[in-house]
Amino acid sequence: MDNKQNQTPLYQAIRDFKDNRNVSFHVPGHKNGEIFVSKAKEHFQSFLQMDLTELDGVDDLHAPEGIIKKAQELAADWFQSNYTYFLVNGSTVGNLAMILASCNSGDQVLVQRNCHKSILHGMELAGVQPIFLPPAYDKLNQRYTAPSVATVKGAIAKYQEAKAVILTYPDYFGDIYPIQEIIDLAHSCNITVLVDEAHGCHFSLPYLSAPSAVELGADIVVQSAHKMTPALTMAAYLHVQSSRVERERISYYLQMLQSSSPSYPIMASLDLARYYLATFTPEQSDILFAYIEKIRACFNNSDDWILEQSDDPLKICLRVKEGVNSQDIKQLFAEEKLYPELMTDKHILFILGLEPTIDPDILKDKIRRITDRLIFSFKHAKIEDKNHYFNEDITPLALSYADMQHQQQKWCSWEDASGKIAAEAIIPYPPGIPLLAKGEEIRETTVEKIQDLFEQKMSFQPNNRRNGLYIYDLTEGE
Ligand SMILES: Cc1ncc(COP(=O)(O)O)c(C=O)c1O
Repeated sequence: MDNKQNQTPLYQAIRDFKDNRNVSFHVPGHKNGEIFVSKAKEHFQSFLQMDLTELDGVDDLHAPEGIIKKAQELAADWFQSNYTYFLVNGSTVGNLAMILASCNSGDQVLVQRNCHKSILHGMELAGVQPIFLPPAYDKLNQRYTAPSVATVKGAIAKYQEAKAVILTYPDYFGDIYPIQEIIDLAHSCNITVLVDEAHGCHFSLPYLSAPSAVELGADIVVQSAHKMTPALTMAAYLHVQSSRVERERISYYLQMLQSSSPSYPIMASLDLARYYLATFTPEQSDILFAYIEKIRACFNNSDDWILEQSDDPLKICLRVKEGVNSQDIKQLFAEEKLYPELMTDKHILFILGLEPTIDPDILKDKIRRITDRLIFSFKHAKIEDKNHYFNEDITPLALSYADMQHQQQKWCSWEDASGKIAAEAIIPYPPGIPLLAKGEEIRETTVEKIQDLFEQKMSFQPNNRRNGLYIYDLTEGE
């Protein structure tokens, strides 16, 4: 490892500042943790002492010249980008900024349909014309994956003016696809490649076989450091390695979209997450992989679920078998104090950290108790395989974002929704991938899927659309 990767300039400066016992006559109002609700003070104390503002010596995220600049450079060096930005509002703000900085109003943008809501929001803010790329459906694992290379090729041939392609890599379940081919194809047509790599921050480790899209030459890559590496919630990176996008524009949108008082603990955790990855040893890797094997063995051989394979060893995905209700399993897991990351109607996803956190023998006992109870109690739900709820064609939105602004909305029951145009997104959460996008024509199969998921008590955003949704009133003025 490069010696300079041993440094943590931002974290160190904050610690020094704290050790200096400075007197605060500035914001934040907790005054280095001295003023706080007494019953919570003890818990928050050491954290509050690191919660600074832009004082002399601790730099400014929006105009970095000192320790933040240095910490970002170390990150760029580790992740092999030309420039890395620290983000304090998750991949969400990174996705918004990368789209706003790369595209102009009216530009055609090819976008993987099963993207996170922040991508759709970014396109709406930028006023671009999304062209949706249908994802392939993986019959074995019973879920959508990514658009095939052929799909992207077809879209580029049809929409020759396309400015950018936006991809999600890896998917929530840790699966990857031949993104290199797509990047090369897009670049050969001078199309900018923007990648939401929210779940791939750890791909920079040499011990994992999946490569990062940064390494593969995407123009901008956004990663949530907080998802797969040890960092505070909302800590994320935006990596740039392209002259196709002006860096000034990225800086401009980031200072517009992010707080003018960015959290120093979050930024310091980005400095530390990079350090953690850069100093991760082969011995740690051996321990991790041995642990993963034991944890996977705990989940294996169940009558109730199938343990899937994933390209990301930290993702453990169970696909529930026919007749087993994933919500029931989730409840039993909760009773054993086991909390998965994500539940769909068919899958339960567990995410491991980069070090062992539970004794595999304890986990084994917990899972045995769960499976014993499943034999005796539940197993009543029939899983209807309501697949293919995304359009299988390459399609633009039914209404442009500009037209949507002038269109009246009205409430519509799900029974009458088919064929209408959605005025809002309907989003199972997590994973935050809209089943219906704003401005999209509503399909019967999508309605069925949404109703099915409500039936199975899945969580949605918004959370009160069980009976219907807002649509655009296209009859107005007729
Ligand atoms: C694929 C994907 N992109 C972006 C995001 C947003 O990330 P963040 O929570 O860091 O804002 C998520 C969050 O779950 C996600 O799954």
